[in-house]
Amino acid sequence: MPSMFPRPQWLATARFYEIYPQSFADSNGDGIGDIPGIVSRLDYIRDLGCNALWINPCFDSPFKDAGYDVRDYLKVAPRYGTNDDLITLFDEAHRRGMHVLLDLVPGHTSEEHPWFRISSRAERNQYSDRYIWTDSWMSGADGLPFVGGEAPRDGTYVLNFFKCQPALNYGFAHPERPWQLGVDSPAAEDTRQAMVDVMRFWLGQGCDGFRVDMANSLVKNDDAGKTATIAAWRQMLGTIKREYPEAAFVSEWGVPEQALRAGFDMDFYLDWSWDRNGYYLLCRDTPDPLDREHDRSYFCAHGGGSVRGFLDQYLPQYEATRDDGYFCLITCNHDTARLAPRLTPDELAIAYGMILTMPGVPFLYYGDEIGMRYRNLPTKEGGYVRTGTRTPMQWDASANLGFSTADASDLYLPVDPAADAPTVAAQRDDAHSLFQWVRGLLALRARHPALNADAPFDVVAAPDNGRLFAYSRTALDGSERLVVALNPGLEPETCAMPESDSSHGTPTMVFNRGEVTVNDASVTLGPQSLGVFAI
Ligand code: NOJ
Repeated sequence: MPSMFPRPQWLATARFYEIYPQSFADSNGDGIGDIPGIVSRLDYIRDLGCNALWINPCFDSPFKDAGYDVRDYLKVAPRYGTNDDLITLFDEAHRRGMHVLLDLVPGHTSEEHPWFRISSRAERNQYSDRYIWTDSWMSGADGLPFVGGEAPRDGTYVLNFFKCQPALNYGFAHPERPWQLGVDSPAAEDTRQAMVDVMRFWLGQGCDGFRVDMANSLVKNDDAGKTATIAAWRQMLGTIKREYPEAAFVSEWGVPEQALRAGFDMDFYLDWSWDRNGYYLLCRDTPDPLDREHDRSYFCAHGGGSVRGFLDQYLPQYEATRDDGYFCLITCNHDTARLAPRLTPDELAIAYGMILTMPGVPFLYYGDEIGMRYRNLPTKEGGYVRTGTRTPMQWDASANLGFSTADASDLYLPVDPAADAPTVAAQRDDAHSLFQWVRGLLALRARHPALNADAPFDVVAAPDNGRLFAYSRTALDGSERLVVALNPGLEPETCAMPESDSSHGTPTMVFNRGEVTVNDASVTLGPQSLGVFAI
């Protein structure tokens, strides 16, 4: 089933920067990042080369899950500022030619959301079925996680994630108990409409779309193909995209064949260790995010093998969805251990070289451009093992590495105390820094239509043995073709270039790192090197 919505054109050249608002820039010295802080750093993000933002939830919340427990979808959390501040952010971003995605959490609310409080009352009311309640205080929830004994209402309620996150009711694909409503029930329809209203509200204020949390989780007891959840999204996205055709939607789904059929423009390749998916094989093939010794990921110079494992997983998904939307690569995100320090700056450089030149829309997590490091930290706001990926941005050598003027003990999370903690200021002045490499890559991507999200991708070389990976990207209008060839390993690799349509035959190197030599129709890649060639 092809996508029923045209994709917003701006996504073809989008380069996203993900911001965890707690930790990016603190403008008022209270120790926590805020929206005016983000506004003050828009020029930084633009100069780095990103032209779009995804901001993690910034709405009113008790913050038991870092804001993924929303108490009021329509109000900015006071710790981040006001709704007007967010509108200013939209305006300032647009003035710079940038777009802003907010984070929509449609599957659950906070247990403190007024809908849930009213739904918990014993007497029936308009929100009684907004959440999934069983019909007795003693009843289990048919295998779904549930809570009992907390509310006046005679029933238990279903959870979507943590205990603080009751599931909103989008119905059951195949209701089997009296308390299980169908997807066509008025209650499920009301929930869908309520979520469309939330989208409509923020799109009306100038936001450019949403990253959608746990998008695959809406309808309960859905089949493996997510038929009913896909139908729910097609209805909701169909409605809102008719009103805002330029709005963009990226799902946290991890199965692009389903997500793009549901009407999303993009789906992320998530870090799934349990099935050792392609992203995991590329970036962190070890259960322990700090264990370099046993890392077998492709980008680890000493540990990894061929790129085939990644391609075997990635290619069928890319081929199946290339006409319907974008299957996007991330450097990391707020749920995933940063790649540093397990990967060294040289390894990161090759990793980013690939991630930022592949098809789909790339997402760079704040601080990855300087190689900010994952740290073992005690949990904060439901972060657990994720907390070490959420530390304050490291701007310069001043107090709190330039993140905040607060007392260090008042910071949301401690800054990296290492004497050699990477900072933007230091790397900006160093032509050979990771920051400058990322900046160069993003500029390369911006310059070349062959690197647009929708520019076709073909494998040139991916031998079973060795570390070589080469692929071509061809501009949609046929105006140029580039080959990206990389070698994350420690031994040289040679790659034959594909036949060129241009009369002169020899590939022209347009970008490189490490020792890369061109000999007629082949290139030799020294240890940990990458070259981009026009052919
Ligand atoms: C996925 C989000 O990315 C994560 O941070 C959150 O804890 C869960 N969904 C629950 O909303």
